[in-house]
Formats: sequence, C-alpha cells, structure tokens
Amino acid sequence: MNVFILTGAGVSAESGLGVFRGPGAAMWKRYDPMQLATPEAFARNPALVHDFYNMRRRNLIAASPNAAHVALARLEAQLARRCGALTLVTQNVDDLHERAGSRRVIHMHGELLKARCASCGAVSDRRDDLAVDSRCGCALRPHVVWFGETPLDLDEIFAALEAADLFVAIGTSGAVYPAAGLVRAARGRGVRCCELNLEASDNAAEFDDRRYGPASEIVPSWVEEILAK
Ligand code: OAD
Repeated sequence: MNVFILTGAGVSAESGLGVFRGPGAAMWKRYDPMQLATPEAFARNPALVHDFYNMRRRNLIAASPNAAHVALARLEAQLARRCGALTLVTQNVDDLHERAGSRRVIHMHGELLKARCASCGAVSDRRDDLAVDSRCGCALRPHVVWFGETPLDLDEIFAALEAADLFVAIGTSGAVYPAAGLVRAARGRGVRCCELNLEASDNAAEFDDRRYGPASEIVPSWVEEILAK
C-alpha cells in the first residue's frame, strides 16, 4: 500500500509548538502574518522577521516529538518492510518528524533549522539566531516559505499523490493552498481520504473518513489499525 500523509501544525501542537489558527492562543491571532511572514515584510523590517523566527527556532530546539510523530515513523518503517511506502509531506517547518525517526520528509513550507541566502539561494543548516547582518556573502533569510511564495517540491508531491492508494491529512486546518487542495486532487483519482484532526477542518466534507481528537491519541490508534490490516 502507498500511503500519502499531509501533516500540519496540529501534529506538533502537543509538543508545545502552537498552531496558527483555531481557538485559544493561535499564532496568527497574536501576530500579524503580513508583518512577519511575507517577502515584503522581510524587505521592510528584516530585524522584526528574524526576531519572530529566532523565537520559534529556540522553541523548536527545546521541544520533543510526541506520540503522533513516533507513530508515523513506525508506519513508515513497517510499510517499507511490507513492500509498501509512505510519503510524508509536512507543512511544518519543525524537524520533529525526523527526530521521531521518519526517514523521508518533504517540507513543503521549508525548514526552520535552515537558512537561505537571499541572493544565491544556497541553503545551510542553522541552529542559532539569524540577524540582519548574518551573511554567506549576502544576506541570509529563514529557509521558510512565506505567503505569496511557491511551496517547495510540488513536482515530487504531485508525483507521489499519483501513486497513492490512501490520502491522510493530520492536524491541518485546510486553510492554506496548495496544501489544502491535495485532498481534492487525491479524490479526483478515486483515492480514499481520511482526516485526523482535533476538530473538523475547513474542507472536512472532502474526506471519506474523519476522526477527531488529540493527535497523540488518534494517530497512534489509526496507525495500529492500518498495520493490522
Ligand atoms: P493551522 O494552525 O491552520 O491548523 C492546525 C489544525 O490543527 C487545526 O485544524 C486544529 O484544529 C488542529 N489541532 C490543534 N491541536 C491539535 C492536536 N492536539 N491534535 C490534532 N489536531 C490539532 O495549521 P496548518 O494547517 O498547518 O504556513 O497551517 C498551514 C499553514 O498556515 C502553515 O504551514 C503556515 C500557516 O500560515 C506558513 O507560514 C507559510
């Protein structure tokens, strides 16, 4: 079986990294994304943008994977043993899937622990703070996709979707495209679609199977169910 999984902020919520939307202290309620997560914002006030991502980078380094990340790493390993495959695409810029043991993760919105040269595009590992004068010959920016920019690895993502037998969205609100449109593309191919989330997402009606609860509980139990088949 080829399983395609799309994860969002909800899978890392119980690791303490917060979500962008929804009830409670969602990030885009406390911070204005137009001042912090656009190329224009970075051109206008790079120090402010660096502060925001520096704070998130420090939080990430202090965080740990939760049971949902661990279960998805187990699913990848078990499917590989059974001649199946898992494509794990995440909108998250954290590295918690990798730290839980996932071997192949496609980060369509970039990676917080990397920096990119704003001129030549060279990407390098980065665990410490970035500042306006951080350079690789020219100015460095966080290696994240901002609003108005094209997500990464879309060709690889759509090729994997073509080969999928099952599409699963975990911990994502379905508010941001093109990620939110992947379920429709999967449905268009007749692939069964499953949503695992705390609450119904914006495009919940697109899914054949919907399970609601904290990711640390519903993801491990869903993984065990799949592996028992
Ligand atoms: P959102 O913050 O939009 O949605 C998070 C989803 O996770 C919501 O539907 C919550 O109900 C759900 N959730 C919260 N806690 C959960 C838990 N413990 N277990 C399971 N689900 C839980 O996050 P994304 O959909 O990932 O992009 O957001 C997509 C993109 O919007 C992000 O990649 C980011 C953001 O702006 C950029 O910054 C470019």
